Amino acid sequence: MIPESFIQDLLHRVDIVDLIDAHVPLKKAGANYAACCPFHNEKSPSFTVSPQKQFYHCFGCGAHGSAIGFMMEYAGMGFIDAVKELAGRTGMQVPEEEGRRRPAHEGPRIADLVGAMAQAAQYYREQLKASPKAIDYLKQRGLTGEIAARFGMGYAPPNGLRDSPLDYNDPRLVAAGLLKVGDDGRRYDYFRDRVMIPIVNPKGETIAFGGRIIGPGEPKYLNSPETPLFEKGRELFGLPQARAALRETDTAIVVEGYMDVIALAQHGVGNAVATLGTATTATHVQKLMRQVDRIVFCFDGDNAGRKAAWRALENSLEALPEQKTIGFVFLPEAHDPDSYVREFGKDAFNRMVAQATPLSDFLLRELGRQCDLTSAEGKAKLVADAKPLLQKLQTPLLRLQLVKRLAEISGFSQPEVERLCELRTIAPPAPARAPRQSPAATFMRKLIRLILQRPELAGRLPLDALPADSPETRTLRRLVAAVREAGEPAPGYAALLERLRGGEDDQLLKNAASDLMHEPFADDEIESEFAGTLDKFARDARKDEIEALRAKAAALGLAGLSADEKARYVALLTARGSDG
Ligand code: UTP
Ligand code: MN
Repeated sequence: MIPESFIQDLLHRVDIVDLIDAHVPLKKAGANYAACCPFHNEKSPSFTVSPQKQFYHCFGCGAHGSAIGFMMEYAGMGFIDAVKELAGRTGMQVPEEEGRRRPAHEGPRIADLVGAMAQAAQYYREQLKASPKAIDYLKQRGLTGEIAARFGMGYAPPNGLRDSPLDYNDPRLVAAGLLKVGDDGRRYDYFRDRVMIPIVNPKGETIAFGGRIIGPGEPKYLNSPETPLFEKGRELFGLPQARAALRETDTAIVVEGYMDVIALAQHGVGNAVATLGTATTATHVQKLMRQVDRIVFCFDGDNAGRKAAWRALENSLEALPEQKTIGFVFLPEAHDPDSYVREFGKDAFNRMVAQATPLSDFLLRELGRQCDLTSAEGKAKLVADAKPLLQKLQTPLLRLQLVKRLAEISGFSQPEVERLCELRTIAPPAPARAPRQSPAATFMRKLIRLILQRPELAGRLPLDALPADSPETRTLRRLVAAVREAGEPAPGYAALLERLRGGEDDQLLKNAASDLMHEPFADDEIESEFAGTLDKFARDARKDEIEALRAKAAALGLAGLSADEKARYVALLTARGSDG
């Protein structure tokens, strides 16, 4: 038996969008992602994946689930195998639960770390307001308060979090990478006297920080260590802030530094993101290509910049979907995007981006640089060097173009290049299958949706007051029990649905998930919706009771009612006055 808490942590750690996108290329559609459903045949995409809910749902066939569910449905795995597979991918160790009891969990849960990070971010933001030194530094770099606020920038005072409302002994602070424990067992702050730049994931959670020293000094930047929340090779700085500009321009500019992203935004170039002190990975490229059709890497004009660009190219090839393009900008010597946009302005910068070197040109140019193309040996080497790169490409058209140009340059024929590079036909994607979906929504279903969206409400559901025995009541009972069993903190939407998967009420839950995906309750409306719906039930129950008592009185005369029944009747009639 795998502990529930582990399932929840796993679902928190896996990004369902990444997972599904690797099998079924997704396209951004509003707050969600969409694709043609892999589980039934369709021409227009009704398969939807929500990054906020970490859940997929097909409006056509009703298939739905979490990342675990997807592995089960798509890869045909059992629950345990799906969990193991996902755990393996994220480097998590699947624990074994002794008996049925939930074990005392070692260390804080991921959801707890999110809370600690949010509190720390808030404290740092407050401290920035109180630090003229940090404010001056940002001003001197040309940043306004508005931009600082947009990126949630803050300041870690020399005393770090010692004077903050956070408890310095809280194990979450160590697990989240905010504090370190020294050899002597004492704790101290990771970030002190630095400008703090939060790294925020697509769910809006602060998962790490970059801290810049104020003025000269070493190290210039400190980045959060990798934690259960933060894996460097997957995250991009500035992604949430760039969202609107990405949509508008359909282009993502990838730069190397936090401050480059922020300076570009300051000058009106909002579609830049940065890798976090690592080379660009295929995951980065996949993430971006889901939102835009074009990526432009913008690196320094020096040797290091060219190396970084080459790494980015190598890692992009396997992740590059058809009809998407990649370009490279090399800045003039001694410039980075920050200094460039400050000196030459937005239009000059955007012009460079528009005129970026296409991937194929950069690839052939760099390969050619290492071969003597005047000799037969050099030409053969060119094709040999191109082989591993071409083999990574999953896009037949781009590959064909490259093959053609390689053929021209090398003097081999096109089929010869293909044979030398051992290029196989690129396989088309997955098959199909189809369940069905039913209509209708009642108050009970509304309660189901409300609890799915905010499981904490389960504890306040007066089960006894619900209509005796209906499928919806049974589902609500199961929901309440599932939330109670999961314990604190309440499980997320995906974890909850995963736990209930496979019951007789699967269809009901499916529909509820579908409705929620389509139209979630606004956060500030959930309370009143919940209260209002319960109220409606209470009123209906009163009406039924009044009717029953009235019928009895009509048949037997008022004397036929017991004293209790009479009192109850009066009370009910009085209460009805306020029912309206
Ligand atoms: P750069 O050295 O190019 O810094 O590092 P920058 O972005 O121009 O910074 P400013 O303008 O001097 O403030 C680029 C990126 O490399 C990582 C950071 O992610 C930084 O944004 N880096 C750099 C570190 O992690 N640590 C360092 O000490 C330096
Ligand atoms: Mn810089």
